[in-house]
Amino acid sequence: MTDVVGTGSTGQFTGRVAVITGGARGQGRSHAVELARQGADIALVDRCADLDTVSYPLATADDLAETVRLVEAEGRRCMSAVADVRDLDAMIGFVDGVVAALGSVDIMIANAGISTLGSIFELDAAGWSETVDTNLTGVFNALRAAAPHMRRQRRGRMITISSMMGRSANPLIPAYCAAKWGVIGLTKSVAHDMAHSGVTVNAVAPGNISTDMIHNDMLYRLMRPDLEHPTRDEVAAVMATLHVQPVPWLEAEEITAAVVFLCSEGARHITGSVIDVDAGASARFTA
Ligand SMILES: NC(=O)c1ccc[n+]([C@@H]2O[C@H](COP(=O)([O-])OP(=O)(O)OC[C@H]3O[C@@H](n4cnc5c(N)ncnc54)[C@H](O)[C@@H]3O)[C@@H](O)[C@H]2O)c1
Repeated sequence: MTDVVGTGSTGQFTGRVAVITGGARGQGRSHAVELARQGADIALVDRCADLDTVSYPLATADDLAETVRLVEAEGRRCMSAVADVRDLDAMIGFVDGVVAALGSVDIMIANAGISTLGSIFELDAAGWSETVDTNLTGVFNALRAAAPHMRRQRRGRMITISSMMGRSANPLIPAYCAAKWGVIGLTKSVAHDMAHSGVTVNAVAPGNISTDMIHNDMLYRLMRPDLEHPTRDEVAAVMATLHVQPVPWLEAEEITAAVVFLCSEGARHITGSVIDVDAGASARFTA
């Protein structure tokens, strides 16, 4: 019988379980809904509360409930928890609970992240550590929680979300850049650790993605310091200069397409790699 992708019952991920951190909204929600559409059961973790050093709102409990609703509307099971990726014990407890309830953890998408600004003169201990703890240690915690299960299962896909700022640098975001560069080193090293267990470990490096992380006053003012209240239209041209193709931002579904590919059977011998989905930005800085 030929599997029909998109029915929610016989897609390529039927019988698989995907854990997604930062799954309440944005890219995490997009990954959750598409993997569910292609048959996977889903488990979501999100903090669902703001952070002091982040100057735009993070997701809410309502956002998380909406992602659960969208996954269930695809006919799949969905677990969720309000937890912080900075807490290793919480991540291990959640993933162990997912395996107990849903049977396995086949896909781990370490997606949760925050964007903070501040030059080396401005960053304080909290600004540095909330960013690095969330964007780098949080990725470690997610992989650490999934690793023993995937080794035992002798299959799995680990996908980390870096950034074009994990392969290049801009002013005013040293903590974000440091964490996202670190994600790539972490990913490549864990790819070695998991290689004999049939588990692949890869990073996706997005360009500007149209989510709440970029559509907020903090980033708009950074892009257009000449304006007091820049609008979406007024930042678009500046945002496009970060890319090579003349587009200001991509849709979350374009990152999902790379994630789905890395989860697919055809990607079984791709590990330790970085896929740039950044409208060509990496053409400026990668071999
Ligand atoms: N949007 C972009 O332009 C862009 C570009 C490159 C990389 N990224 C990366 O993509 C990933 C997804 O971001 P997005 O664009 O969907 O933004 P988003 O802000 O919509 O989503 C991030 C999610 O992570 C959650 N989160 C934040 N800190 C957390 C913590 N400590 N514990 C648990 N959950 C936490 C938030 O509540 C939110 O739901 C992030 O890692 C981000 O750094 C985004």
